[in-house]
Amino acid sequence: MNAKDIRKVACVGAGVIGYSWALYFSLKKLSVNVYDLTDEKLELAKTRIHDSLLNLMKNEVVSEEEIVEIERRINYTTVMEEAVKDVQFITESGPENYEIKQKMAEEMETYTSSETIIASSTSGLLVSEIAKNAKHPERFIGAHPYNPPHLIPLVELTKGDKTTDEVLKCAKDFYQSIDKEPVVLQKEALGFICNRIQMAVYREVCNLVMKGVCTIEDADKAVTYGPGLRWAIMGPSLVFELGGGEGHIDGLMKHLNSSITLWLNDMADFKEFPENFPEIARKGVEEALKNRPKEIGNDDASLAEYRDKMLISLLKLHKKL
Ligand SMILES: NC(=O)c1ccc[n+]([C@@H]2O[C@H](COP(=O)([O-])OP(=O)(O)OC[C@H]3O[C@@H](n4cnc5c(N)ncnc54)[C@H](O)[C@@H]3O)[C@@H](O)[C@H]2O)c1
Repeated sequence: MNAKDIRKVACVGAGVIGYSWALYFSLKKLSVNVYDLTDEKLELAKTRIHDSLLNLMKNEVVSEEEIVEIERRINYTTVMEEAVKDVQFITESGPENYEIKQKMAEEMETYTSSETIIASSTSGLLVSEIAKNAKHPERFIGAHPYNPPHLIPLVELTKGDKTTDEVLKCAKDFYQSIDKEPVVLQKEALGFICNRIQMAVYREVCNLVMKGVCTIEDADKAVTYGPGLRWAIMGPSLVFELGGGEGHIDGLMKHLNSSITLWLNDMADFKEFPENFPEIARKGVEEALKNRPKEIGNDDASLAEYRDKMLISLLKLHKKL
């Protein structure tokens, strides 16, 4: 199959991730079938899609007329056959559990064409294991989104042991054609690429806080107004390339090598967060929220609204919206 043959998709499992995928696919003018177990779950997905669209309208991404069109392209059903029988691509966003995902795979395969690509949103389970009882394991891939998928362009793609290169290529082309930024893992890795990078940074946040070097609030501030601003534009290696001047990235590393070695030796390498750190982090976050004005978010709801507004502005700068 060719990426341009994908005109209709199904979102199987319509919770936090599934509803957002459905919204994104429809925003990109694809017809979407949304499947979940009950009418209540589907109603919740419908409400979340509507609320997210209103937020996009508030930020001038879509008009009122476009909202009507986007919602019209989405069909909701609790009947698996209806959801998957005539689609070329399925995004599975069910619970993070092998048994459930394997059962979902079996059910999807019963009613869909053998050509249809099945992409799991799994955060960390192995595709080979999800597809281990499948009739056509060659068409299963992992397509790990970042929350919320309708705003974050990254999708991390992985193969299972039987996935064909053609399927992976088609999926990659498809995501690119709808303005996603897919990256392909050359081999399976726990936590994919970005969860590992995020956790490496957060391990050091924890280390600095536990050593009394800084507060949670100041570590956040340092990232937000320092490297975070640059990382929103380019990755850490390109940032270092510019930092190296005429010597480039390798020059920077050689120039700072003795200093970097001292830092690396002093940094955290623990394999588990200290037992009391979650409470310390929570208190630190509560303290930080107290010091923020409402317009940049000082509780979870206003923080999420501010995040989405800023994300949308950034995405417009990146020409991704
Ligand atoms: N939440 C995140 O930040 C995030 C980010 C990236 C990836 N993921 C992954 O996405 C997947 C979904 O996570 P979520 O956060 O949306 O979970 P969720 O609990 O919000 O949604 C799961 C949905 O699956 C439905 N479901 C349960 N059994 C089903 C079945 N047999 N068939 C069809 N649907 C079924 C549930 O009713 C629910 O609506 C997981 O694999 C998770 O690891 C989550």
